[in-house]
Amino acid sequence: MPSATTPQAESDVVTNGAGAVGSGIVAHTDGVPPGDDSPLIISLRDVSKRYVTEGRTVHALQNIDLEVRRGEFLVLVGRSGCGKSTLLNLLGGLDKPSSGSVLVAGQDLALMNEASLTQYRRDTVGMVFQFFNLMPLLTVLENTILPALLAGKNKQQSEARGRELLTAIGLGERIAQQASLLSGGEMQRVAVARALINDPPLLLADEPTGNLDSQSAEAVLAALKSLTQREGKTVVMVTHSREAAQQGTLIREMRDGQFVSNDEG
Ligand SMILES: Nc1ncnc2c1ncn2[C@@H]1O[C@H](COP(=O)(O)OP(=O)(O)OP(=O)(O)O)[C@@H](O)[C@H]1O
Ligand SMILES: [Mg+2]
Repeated sequence: MPSATTPQAESDVVTNGAGAVGSGIVAHTDGVPPGDDSPLIISLRDVSKRYVTEGRTVHALQNIDLEVRRGEFLVLVGRSGCGKSTLLNLLGGLDKPSSGSVLVAGQDLALMNEASLTQYRRDTVGMVFQFFNLMPLLTVLENTILPALLAGKNKQQSEARGRELLTAIGLGERIAQQASLLSGGEMQRVAVARALINDPPLLLADEPTGNLDSQSAEAVLAALKSLTQREGKTVVMVTHSREAAQQGTLIREMRDGQFVSNDEG
């Protein structure tokens, strides 16, 4: 009888998966995408977002479809105002679509009430922004575990997990240091560890290297990449940097609230 636990052949982990997932992929990258059998974590169907200010309507997102598998490192690029942050805000449960459905980890965000969204933001997504917003007088470890303590988790266990994350991200030696004494790249890596302390499967990053010199940016990108490869996390990152975009498994360009499709280039 054949064994039920035949390990997946190494050759199954193909490196060209990025080309197979729908339209709007504008470039191939150095990243190794997850296999086609990896489950979907994000599924957007016909999502639009309109803002009305002073009688004027802005179509920030227009009829967007998007599917992202677990373990993917998706990079969103495009000119200022094309809708990148709007899309991240919808995925982060910070805002609701005007129409369409936003499914993340099996939850339909458009249908959730404020209490469920609060729980979603705590358990399912971590967010990292351009400005890291650390508490300057707290230590690296204290900053990292703050969201866990706010969620009512055990302090010792949170500290253990915090140490583990900080070590994985290359800050194992700086745990007891005051946050204000770190470099920009180090602060941003603390922000990444903090976003992961409650172990969300999805990490959203809005220009996380926008404020960093190229060496610090590289360290942050390496940390994000290793999360997808070693911990199976999914990362969606907005960037204006060509080099940063190359770290993804998939790059999609946006224009006027839509994905640019292949043939438009
Ligand atoms: N809260 C809001 N109220 C009104 N309009 C908004 C709001 N948020 C975004 N917009 C508009 O929606 C459009 C998309 O904005 P968004 O912030 O998503 O762009 P972006 O691609 O992230 O740009 P950038 O690269 O400059 O950060 C813009 O025209 C913006 O002015
Ligand atoms: Mg933005």
